[in-house]
Amino acid sequence: MLPSSTRILLVIGGGIAAYKAAELIRLIRRDGGDVTCVLTEGGSHFVTPLTLAALSENAVHTTLWDLKNEVEMGHIQLSRQADLVVVCPATADLMARMAAGMADDLATTLLLATDKPVLAVPAMNVRMWQHAATVANVATLRARGVSVMEPAEGAMACGEFGPGRLPEPLAILDAIRAHLSAPQVLAGKHVLVTAGPTHEPIDPVRYIANRSSGKQGFALAAAAAQAGARVTLVAGPVALPTPPGVMRIDVETAVDMGHAVDAALPCDVAIMVAAVADWRVAGASPQKRKKDGSGRIAPLELIENPDILAGLGAAVMRPRLLIGFAAETENVIDHARAKRARKGADWIIANDVSGDVMGGADNTVHIISAAGTESLPRMAKADVATAIIAKVADALA
Ligand code: C5P
Repeated sequence: MLPSSTRILLVIGGGIAAYKAAELIRLIRRDGGDVTCVLTEGGSHFVTPLTLAALSENAVHTTLWDLKNEVEMGHIQLSRQADLVVVCPATADLMARMAAGMADDLATTLLLATDKPVLAVPAMNVRMWQHAATVANVATLRARGVSVMEPAEGAMACGEFGPGRLPEPLAILDAIRAHLSAPQVLAGKHVLVTAGPTHEPIDPVRYIANRSSGKQGFALAAAAAQAGARVTLVAGPVALPTPPGVMRIDVETAVDMGHAVDAALPCDVAIMVAAVADWRVAGASPQKRKKDGSGRIAPLELIENPDILAGLGAAVMRPRLLIGFAAETENVIDHARAKRARKGADWIIANDVSGDVMGGADNTVHIISAAGTESLPRMAKADVATAIIAKVADALA
């Protein structure tokens, strides 16, 4: 069964598989869920609003240009009331428009505006599914956090055979259940996460930076949001999509990051994953520094940045659980233990970054707390995040 009073916003694209969306509505309702349908212009050639309204017992939304609905139930409101947005069938065209960030009808506008998790269920001709454009669009959507189901394989309405068929409605219901059953162990908690590098300007065109990709911090923010927390993510300069349901504040320098963290307090849990630059350039030049032909360059004077983690450790509004990260290349655990004491953190999560961790997809971490050291096996950064968030929930319980 679906969690009680689950609300699904079902976006129906224009493909022959649209008729199966009608069956999906019945299954979701039988499972205890409520369904509101958004029908694209293409979808309306395959199923009628009347069919969908009768099955869902809710009004069906078809156009962006409906004055009455924009007052009562605008495109923003539609997704705000949903727990999950399901795009079914997700046609090649609809996914292309989603990937391009277009908003030229009600469906794409709400998909661009939503901060809710999105599950796309593709259905199309096998050649369209395997076309390089669709492959790239699916990869883009997945990288942005949209969950795209694999289509089923078999005979198609067009007479061809291969992957591209809409998965059976029962399999789609299973995917919906899996999405909604993440236990809301951090409901009502505010989790603050820092992620990415900082950029410390030398002059208007140059800066000091580091190799942090932000992936582990973003994965932690995503996992905390999935667990029901209100999440504030203070991100240094990275080109990563904002995880669904996360409030993101972009900053550039360590000083700005410190201000954004202070402004986000109070929080229950702070997880400081950012690779904050230890130093900034004293008196960064307002003009571009030039060579003077002497073969020598005036040295840069560096001054220490404020330590955001240590600041929180001593703050009046100290979070109940304060977690730092320690990227080390040698004596990983010893250095992390010392860091835990020095910064007043509850846990330090240590990782050895001498290999391919920075920018890579996997991580091996050791959690150092008052209770000792626990080492997790090498895992995808998303799985490391899920494991850490489960431990955070245990610690707060
Ligand atoms: O001292 P070190 O940079 O190795 O410590 C790493 C931990 O401290 C991370 O959690 C990082 O986010 C945090 N840190 C900070 N402010 C700094 C330097 C590091 O919050 N200026």
